[in-house]
Amino acid sequence: MHGRQLLLSNATYIYITFYGHIYLIHPFRNYIFDMEHSKKILELKKRLVGIKPLEDEPEFFNSEETLVRFLKSREWNINETEKMLKESIEYRRRIRPSHLDCKWCHDRPGCHSMRQVGFDEAGRPVIYSNFAQANLRHNTSEDTICHCTYLIENAKRTMPPGVSTWVFVIDCTGMTIQACNPKLGYGVTQVMANHYPERLGLVICVNHNPVFQGIWKAMKVFIHPNTSSKVKLVKSKSKVKQTFLEVFPSELTDWILEEMRQNKIKPLPSTQREFWNKPSDSGRHDPRGCSSYIEKYIERSEKENAAFEILHKAHPNIMDSIKGKVVSVKKSSELEKKSSPCHHVDSCNSDSDEEFEQIEMLDIPDEFKVPDDAVKFT
Ligand SMILES: *[C@@H]1O[C@H](CO)[C@@H](O)[C@H](O)[C@H]1NC(C)=O
Ligand SMILES: *[C@@H]1O[C@H](CO)[C@@H](O)[C@H](O)[C@H]1NC(C)=O
Ligand SMILES: *[C@@H]1O[C@H](CO)[C@@H](O)[C@H](O)[C@H]1NC(C)=O
Repeated sequence: MHGRQLLLSNATYIYITFYGHIYLIHPFRNYIFDMEHSKKILELKKRLVGIKPLEDEPEFFNSEETLVRFLKSREWNINETEKMLKESIEYRRRIRPSHLDCKWCHDRPGCHSMRQVGFDEAGRPVIYSNFAQANLRHNTSEDTICHCTYLIENAKRTMPPGVSTWVFVIDCTGMTIQACNPKLGYGVTQVMANHYPERLGLVICVNHNPVFQGIWKAMKVFIHPNTSSKVKLVKSKSKVKQTFLEVFPSELTDWILEEMRQNKIKPLPSTQREFWNKPSDSGRHDPRGCSSYIEKYIERSEKENAAFEILHKAHPNIMDSIKGKVVSVKKSSELEKKSSPCHHVDSCNSDSDEEFEQIEMLDIPDEFKVPDDAVKFT
C-alpha cells in the first residue's frame, strides 16, 4: 500500500493505492472514494462555482459531506445531482434554516410533540413523537414541515463527527387520521427526500394500529424503496424492547418505554401533556428527554448564556419553559377530538404478539389524500 496526502478544497484526504486501485480517504469521516467518485465530486464542485454562498452557512455546498450525500441520492448522476443541489441551495436561502422557529408551538404549546430525546449507540440523534401528547388537526403540512425542519436542523448541531443521520421513534398511541394522514406524510417526506438526502438512519413505529398501517401503505408508494426500507413497524411489547435495545443505550430504552407507558394513560396526566416542563420532583420521569440529553443540552442552556442556544435548541416549548415564557395550554386536543368525526382508533392490545392485524381498507377523506400529481416509485 502506498499513501500520500491530497488537498481537495479545505479538507485533507489520504490518497492511497491498493492493489492497483486508487482511493481517497477522509481521515475523520470514514469516507472512502475511488477515483471515479472523486472526479465526480470535483466536477460537481466546478458546476457550483459562481453560486452565491449561503449567508448563514457558507460551507454548505463546499463541504464534501454535502456533495457526497446529494450525489449518493442521485446514484452519482452529476446532472441530476446538480439540479437537486441547486434547488436545495435556493430552498435554504429562502427558509434560512438556522433562523427557523416553529411559531405554531409558541402560539399553541403542545401542538407538536416531536422532540429530540437522546442519542442512539452510534451517536445519532433520536427524535420521539407521540400523538396522544399532540392531537392537532392537520389538513396542511406547513406547520409539521416547519416543526420537523426546526428539529432536524437542531439535531444536526448535536451530531458528533462522523455521524450524519438521525433516528425517529414514532409512537402511534392516540393517532387519528386528522393528525396523521397520507397528505401530511407526503408533504413531510417530500421535503426530506428533496433537501435532506441520505440523512434518515432509521424510523421505528410503535403502537401502530391498522389505520396507521393503512396510511403507511398509501404513502409508501411515493417513497424511494431505499428510504421506506428504513421504516420498521414494531408492535409486540417484547419486540419493541428488543428493537430498542439493539440500537439504543439502556438509558434511552428505559426512557422511551416509560414515556410510552405514561402516554397510554387516560386521561393523559398533565405532566405528560405539558411535556416541556421540568418535573417538580427530581425522582420523576422527565418527559423532556433522557437524562444525558437533558444534562448536556437543556439544563446547560438553562444555566449558561444564550450563546449555547446557537448550538442546539430543544423543542420550542422546552425553550420557552426554560425562559419561563410558556403560555398555558388550552385543552385544545380534547376539544378537537370531540368536534372531529370519529376516526380515532386506539392503539389497542400492543401486548399481543401479532405484528400486523388485517390491514383495513381505509376510506381516506379527500382533504387527507396525496396530491394526484405525486410521483410513484412502485
Ligand atoms: C439504494 O440502495 C442500493 C443498494 O444499497 C444502492 O446501490 C443504491 O445506490 C441506492 N440508491 C439510492 C438512490 O440511494
Ligand atoms: C448532462 O447534461 C448535458 C447538457 O446539459 C448533456 O450534454 C449530457 O449528455 C448530460 N449527461 C448525462 C449523463 O445525462
Ligand atoms: C383545513 O382546516 C381548516 C380548519 O380546520 C378549514 O378552515 C380549511 O377549510 C381546511 N382546508 C381544507 C383544504 O380542507
